[in-house]
Amino acid sequence: MIKTVAVIGAGTMGNGIAQVFAQGGFSVRLVDVAQPMLDRARGAIERSLGKFVEKGKLTASDRDAALGRLTTATSVDGLGDADYVVEAIVEHADTKRALFTSLDAVTRPEVILASNTSSISITLLGAATKRPDKVLGMHFMNPVPLMTLVEMIRGQATSAETMAVASKVCADLGKTPIEAADYPGFIANRILMPMINEAIYAVMEGVGTPEAIDTVMKLGMHHPMGPLALADFIGLDVCLAIMTVLHDGLGDPKYRPCPLLRRMVAAGQLGRKSGRGFYTY
Ligand SMILES: NC(=O)c1ccc[n+]([C@@H]2O[C@H](COP(=O)([O-])OP(=O)(O)OC[C@H]3O[C@@H](n4cnc5c(N)ncnc54)[C@H](O)[C@@H]3O)[C@@H](O)[C@H]2O)c1
Repeated sequence: MIKTVAVIGAGTMGNGIAQVFAQGGFSVRLVDVAQPMLDRARGAIERSLGKFVEKGKLTASDRDAALGRLTTATSVDGLGDADYVVEAIVEHADTKRALFTSLDAVTRPEVILASNTSSISITLLGAATKRPDKVLGMHFMNPVPLMTLVEMIRGQATSAETMAVASKVCADLGKTPIEAADYPGFIANRILMPMINEAIYAVMEGVGTPEAIDTVMKLGMHHPMGPLALADFIGLDVCLAIMTVLHDGLGDPKYRPCPLLRRMVAAGQLGRKSGRGFYTY
């Protein structure tokens, strides 16, 4: 029986994932190495739940109960009572592998370890543990409280039972699980990121302004958000990390990260989270 869920990483995705688990009735332990990120995450969750209450989709007492189920910590050491883990730290393979080795040591052996990675191999993360059959990808979409899809990635060693338990967890959260195989970028980012990267090439080559490119994709293709506004929303550092995984893993030059994307990340222009990207915030 899964009662207590640990969410590791309290950034853009971790706070949303922690929120949906708390709203779903689970006790949540949100862990981040940075205390300021935990403080920010709690504030973001309070604001998001507050919006649900304003819209009449959640009662004030359910909001208070969800917040009461959330605790935070700066270390994974106290996760012996966790029944399920979702990792949502930086998109960096070696950092994630080190974390999975620590999680393997501190959690009970039967506990499933899920990663929210956008592109890194689940098989590689599983191999950093002694329980690769219990490691899978649970790729939530941003913003987590509103988006219903969870891409479920089966690593080379992930068991059918692990996939079944994780799918049931998704259903308990009111989300729709869709399975993908463990290839770079899985389904979502294999298709989305090259489009975003191409839009950045179009800016670099002067084909159109960011506003023009986003408007073409919104009005012409009926996308709810243009690719450059979406890149700012995702974080340009995250976009670069995903393109790098696609390029390295698939080897085709068509996945080469756009030089303008590299330059913006080097300049600290990361999109919404830094206040500046293709737009200013
Ligand atoms: N941003 C998106 O739209 C999006 C969408 C789907 C999936 N993802 C994936 O989710 C993950 C997190 O992305 P994000 O955008 O939330 O990143 P973020 O940069 O907003 O947050 C990452 C957090 O991880 C923390 N962290 C780093 N190392 C840690 C460690 N060893 N232990 C605990 N905490 C640690 C950082 O302090 C930071 O708070 C990545 O794997 C990313 O690819 C992102």
